[in-house]
Amino acid sequence: MRIRKNAVITAVGGYVPDTVLSNHDLEEMVDTNSEWIVARTGIKERRIVNDPDIATSDMATYALKRLMEEGNVNPDEIDCVIVSTSTPDYVMVSTGSMVCEKAGLKNAWGIDTNAACSGFLYALTLGASMIESGRCKKVVVIGADKNSAIVNYTDRNTCILFGDGAGAVLLEQTEEPVGLMDSFFRTDGSGKENLIVTAGGSKFPASQSTLDEKLHYVRQDGRVVFKAAIQGMTDTCNEVLKSNDLVSAQIDYLIPHQANLRIIQSVGEYLGLSAEQVKVNIDRYGNTTAATIPLCLWDFKDDFKYGDKMILTAFGAGFSWGATYLKWGTLRQSKKD
Ligand code: UT7
Repeated sequence: MRIRKNAVITAVGGYVPDTVLSNHDLEEMVDTNSEWIVARTGIKERRIVNDPDIATSDMATYALKRLMEEGNVNPDEIDCVIVSTSTPDYVMVSTGSMVCEKAGLKNAWGIDTNAACSGFLYALTLGASMIESGRCKKVVVIGADKNSAIVNYTDRNTCILFGDGAGAVLLEQTEEPVGLMDSFFRTDGSGKENLIVTAGGSKFPASQSTLDEKLHYVRQDGRVVFKAAIQGMTDTCNEVLKSNDLVSAQIDYLIPHQANLRIIQSVGEYLGLSAEQVKVNIDRYGNTTAATIPLCLWDFKDDFKYGDKMILTAFGAGFSWGATYLKWGTLRQSKKD
């Protein structure tokens, strides 16, 4: 009998910059107020990079180094690094390549994936497939975004939402009945009308007019995205539950993308989960795009125990959305423990 080899998360690392951008700071920058921001989004503060030398790959590397230290992981044993980001260091040269160099990984190859806020979940499934197939033994999946590089700090519709950060997980093979079980993903390219960074790619290369028209900044129609996010996340969570013969009462935790507390609460309520089961850190970090889910895993890892059933779900630009079902395993111990 073939024993199914699962990919399981065995180490986690996270990083957010030291600089806090509070709601009160934003009151000085645009026509907004802290009460509105907290009531409409749940965000109290976010972290942003204030050192021009720090790029997405640096934040990703800090998260990976923390993962290696706390998980006692030998960098030479890592086969592959997948960085999910929509704010890569460069258009050409992958952030994954930069991370391998900066973290001193001699035997790894690094690539990027971009599915905006859903990117970490997509990358997690790609990484898991490489472990399940036996092609790789240790795969690091990172979600990292330096959103402060693409946010227009004179646009109150967007600048209140986003923060910078990075989160990393290590995937390894196990024969135990834990790890990534399933995913259900969708994309709809017509969503680009409602959430996009228009310029800087091959469609609209940087030019004087793209600069003048501020097309290098993120732009969104918040109301459209808000409704689509609740619907998309709820539907895909239900799909992944159904295809695994589960009902939501059997789920221990929901780890949602952190874009808006009201979206998170609505999805939790539609699934019938209690507030304690739904992990939230948006109040401290805002929306860190691809980093929200791994940062949640990092923040709350001490709450999780072996066998806990979790649904991870995200919605973002693309539109891209989906849900992943996983069973928590055992994290590697640091040398200090
Ligand atoms: O991670 C990627 C996915 N992104 C998301 O999931 C974001 C989804 N969208 C949202 O989170 C929400 O739509 C926002 C937080 C962006 C906006 O909240 P909203 O409740 O949808 O507000 P709204 O856009 O409907 O605006 C309501 C009012 C408007 O004023 P009027 O037209 O009613 O007079 C806005 O001009 O609030 C005004 N407003 C603000 N007021 C104070 C918009 N932004 C602000 C602001 N401060 N920063």
